Amino acid sequence: MFERKPETHEEEFFASRESARAYAGMAEKSGFMYRGFLKELAAFEPRGSVLDVGAGPGVLACLVAQHHPEVHITALEVSDQMVEAGREYVAQKGLQERIQFVQGNATNEEVVRGLGRFDLVYCAYTLHHFKAPERVLKNLLSVVKDTGTFYVYDLRRTRWLYWVPLRSGFLDSIRAAYVANEVRDIAQRVTTLQTCEVKNQFPFHLSLTIKPAPPTVQPASEPASEPASEPASR
Ligand SMILES: C[S@@+](CC[C@H](N)C(=O)[O-])C[C@H]1O[C@@H](n2cnc3c(N)ncnc32)[C@H](O)[C@@H]1O
Repeated sequence: MFERKPETHEEEFFASRESARAYAGMAEKSGFMYRGFLKELAAFEPRGSVLDVGAGPGVLACLVAQHHPEVHITALEVSDQMVEAGREYVAQKGLQERIQFVQGNATNEEVVRGLGRFDLVYCAYTLHHFKAPERVLKNLLSVVKDTGTFYVYDLRRTRWLYWVPLRSGFLDSIRAAYVANEVRDIAQRVTTLQTCEVKNQFPFHLSLTIKPAPPTVQPASEPASEPASEPASR
């Protein structure tokens, strides 16, 4: 018995501006939780337009912007309180020109499509929160440019933590998280597996990378043959 136990405990963080600010403070002190994500992300050499989905109070978006000076980030977040705390946090960091918060639900196709198209779309620590993960993935893939990347990083349901006989926000999130095969199944329902890679990440994380299939290259056509020269008039 190792089944997934979807959680709701984190919603208390999204209930008021104060609790959203408290979440930001906690996230700031948990830099080690972002280290693996930032390292993996750097391999994509991010630049251009980036969509951060489920951006929370913007702590991670600010780190991404600081590490990659050539990105401009749209931070999509469903909770009004998080959006307010996020705008405040981004302003404190002086990054308001490069990070724009948008309040909206990634489940809503119209909202996602209204954001434009992106060189990189990522979501961190958010997949296990989605009530309709396939719909969200499908929406998000539709706004990745043909040359772009879609990257998901989240906790992984690991046995050695799942069975720790304690309740804590972190352990509840571990119990609510997916394992690699489940993520592969979700991805398979919305895209072709050739374009996607699911990896276990040390110590209790996983990632999903999807690169849209490159546009098929048309074989170079034979140069049009010269029109037969007119017979010389007599
Ligand atoms: C655990 S927090 C992660 C925040 C941030 N990505 C980080 O790593 O610090 C998950 C966030 O996803 C947001 N979220 C959950 N479902 C969402 C949805 N359908 N659309 C947009 N945001 C969502 C929550 O409101 C919450 O702020």
